[in-house]
Amino acid sequence: MSDEFSAFDIPVDRAGTGSVKWARCAGRDVLPMWVADMDFRSPEPIIAALHRRVEHGVFGYSMAHAGVAGAVCGYLRRVHGVEIEPSWIVWLPGMVVGLAQSACLAGEPGDAIMTFTPVYPPFLKVHRDAGRELIAVPLGAEGGRHTFDFEAMEQALTPRTRLVMLCSPHNPVGRVWTRAELEKLADFCVRHDLLLVSDEIHCDLLLEPQAAPHTTALKLDSLRSRAITLMAASKTYNVPGLGLCFAIIPDEQLRRRFVLTKNTFVAEISPLSFHATRAAFDECDDWRRSLCRYLRRNRDTIAAILAARAPQVKMPHIEATYLAWLDVRALGLEQPVAHFEAHGLALSNGADFGAPGFVRLNFGCPLARVEEGLARFVRAL
Ligand SMILES: Cc1ncc(COP(=O)(O)O)c(C=O)c1O
Repeated sequence: MSDEFSAFDIPVDRAGTGSVKWARCAGRDVLPMWVADMDFRSPEPIIAALHRRVEHGVFGYSMAHAGVAGAVCGYLRRVHGVEIEPSWIVWLPGMVVGLAQSACLAGEPGDAIMTFTPVYPPFLKVHRDAGRELIAVPLGAEGGRHTFDFEAMEQALTPRTRLVMLCSPHNPVGRVWTRAELEKLADFCVRHDLLLVSDEIHCDLLLEPQAAPHTTALKLDSLRSRAITLMAASKTYNVPGLGLCFAIIPDEQLRRRFVLTKNTFVAEISPLSFHATRAAFDECDDWRRSLCRYLRRNRDTIAAILAARAPQVKMPHIEATYLAWLDVRALGLEQPVAHFEAHGLALSNGADFGAPGFVRLNFGCPLARVEEGLARFVRAL
């Protein structure tokens, strides 16, 4: 076990590398546990693939080279048990771009998009550029477990609602939606003639792959003509700065409409990112499984420390992601993020996710750093 984990135990100094996460704390004794990238080195096959491409020395406008689409198809078959055609893939320079393009193709300006809060902040923003309305329905809770509130969704729905924007698994509450929940959501979409965009960027960061397996929207047959599934190697293999994701759209007409929304705002894709993506999906399964076991131990450590030393702070059971969603309302802090930062810990602000009184803590880092972060968290109380 310790050998498996040793690569993740190594602290990497990211100071001075232009890291968004670390720059916020530069020159101060503040531990950055906010924005969602990890402090681990990417797996060696990715670094080697990047070296080989850099050695070539010419970095012109690029498209997916031979092998990239095959790597994606093979990964989806092997890891998620689903067959896709390479022609269904649309390459994009980022996931938020895919959300924004989906918002633009859903109906007309003035139409509405439904999403579920709390949620990753761009879900609450992309409708603006598209001139759409946002219907934000709070997630329900059954026995302390977040789930869809279908009653509230039916009530919030308007005749102009055209799209459901789903985060699956969910950032920040860490749920991996069950097949039954997703089938009910699919029925909702079919019944009300809604498109669905499913952001599955976290779908391989499963902390309990047996008990809480991921069901991709690609497996929901009733959504075949109305789903846009977004995936990427970026979060799992810690290459989000390289900028590459892909939409998988089985329906040809929907795919054509999606491609047409790629306007002058959408940049070209870096040649390096294609090489990282191919290596990630073809060569890094073992690394990914070890990473998830490491992250699971980090999560369990956080849960144990909170239960013992900060029982008034509540954390839902995180089934996926490396993000802990902490309800700190019981502390009565006016500015929770500023308070924790003053005590040496930089966190994400729940208000940005539509949930003031919450903070999000990134545990994608060596266990020793998690323990130090939690020590600071507890001291701040
Ligand atoms: C759910 C979700 N979607 C998208 C992104 C960002 O993706 P990208 O950087 O490819 O736009 C993140 C990053 O944290 C995320 O959590």
